[in-house]
Formats: sequence, C-alpha cells, structure tokens
Amino acid sequence: MFGADYYRRFYGKGGVHDRRAIAHLASAVHGMAAWWGVTPTSVLDVGAGPGLWRDWYRTNHPRVKLTSIDVSEYACRKYGHELRDISTWTPPQPFDLVVCHGVLQYPDDRSATAAIDNIAAACKHVLYLEVPTSSDFRTVVDKEATDMEVHHRTGLWYRRRLEKHFIQAGAGIWVRRGGGVLLYELERTR
Ligand SMILES: C[S@@+](CC[C@H](N)C(=O)[O-])C[C@H]1O[C@@H](n2cnc3c(N)ncnc32)[C@H](O)[C@@H]1O
Repeated sequence: MFGADYYRRFYGKGGVHDRRAIAHLASAVHGMAAWWGVTPTSVLDVGAGPGLWRDWYRTNHPRVKLTSIDVSEYACRKYGHELRDISTWTPPQPFDLVVCHGVLQYPDDRSATAAIDNIAAACKHVLYLEVPTSSDFRTVVDKEATDMEVHHRTGLWYRRRLEKHFIQAGAGIWVRRGGGVLLYELERTR
C-alpha cells in the first residue's frame, strides 16, 4: 500500500505538507520542548515517510540523535529509515521527543491502541502527534490532498488511550506523565 505511487500522490505537487511547512512546525515543537527545559537530544520519527522531520533535524540540529522508522519497505529503502511497525515495536531506550505525524489513522483499532502504548514507552518527555479524527475528515481536511481510505475514529477514542500516558498541552503537543515537564494550568487543555 505504501509504495512509490502513495508518496508521489501525497507528497508531490499539492500534497499534504512540504519541507517549508514542516520547518515551521518542527522549530515550534523543538522550541516548546526547550522552553519546558527538555531540549531534545534524541528524537524518534514514527512513520517517517519521506523523512521531512528527519531532514529538518539533520540540517538544523545535526547533533540530535534521530531515529526514523516506517512500516513501508519502499519508504525505508528510498528515504533511509529503519523498517519497524510501531504497533509491535518498542525501542530499547526512550527518546526525548517522539514525532508521529499522520500515521495512526492507518492501523486498525487494536494495532492503533498498541501503537499508542508503544509510543508512550518510547517517549521520555514530549510527543508531537497529528492524526485526523472522524470530525476532521468531515469538516477540516482537504479531501483532495488527504488519504481518506483510512480508519475514521473519534477524538475521544484517541484521547482515552493517550491520556493514560500523556497530558495534552495543545497544538498536537503532549507531555509524558511523570516525564518531568510541569505545565501551568492554562498551558494544558485540561
Ligand atoms: C501520511 S504518511 C506520513 C509521513 C510523515 N510522518 C509526514 O508527516 O510527512 C504515513 C506514513 O506512516 C507509515 N505507517 C503506517 N502505519 C505504520 C506503522 N504501523 N508503523 C510505522 N509506520 C507506519 C506509512 O508507511 C507512511 O509512510
């Protein structure tokens, strides 16, 4: 499923996002973690696809130890990631920052639940997560640029599983419970 056509379609002209957009997002996420006193020295990019986050880190923070994984043999070969399925894999050591951008809508309910638990096990301090919910598919996403042939689950479905491990700070950023980041009351969503 995740072969050359997939990456051409969603990362070619008019695709979901590009290097410039990721540069804004990655610098914001990195900067927020630094603001909270946990400047990332190790980063795990889950479902890295074309590797836009990995490339941003290599260019802007070359000393950060970055591991990028993907379940697609094609993506691993072409873009240089470790071949891993996040629903069955946990790393030997946790990372300061875990990025999971546009991935969790692909596995089924059971695998996505396991993936969230594995992401939590892989995360020491901060998670950046973007996953479209059923409401987003109805109201927010650009249906031309987005893969709609995925699992449509509610925000509540994800929140119930994520909140076991994380506190939602907002804008896709979650901090690991017990990971040393203490948010002010109005820095978090609840
Ligand atoms: C929409 S792309 C996102 C790529 C990248 N994160 C980005 O935002 O540019 C989804 C990626 O998730 C990967 N993926 C899907 N299920 C996965 C799983 N269970 N474990 C690891 N990667 C997975 C796919 O192979 C694909 O490369």
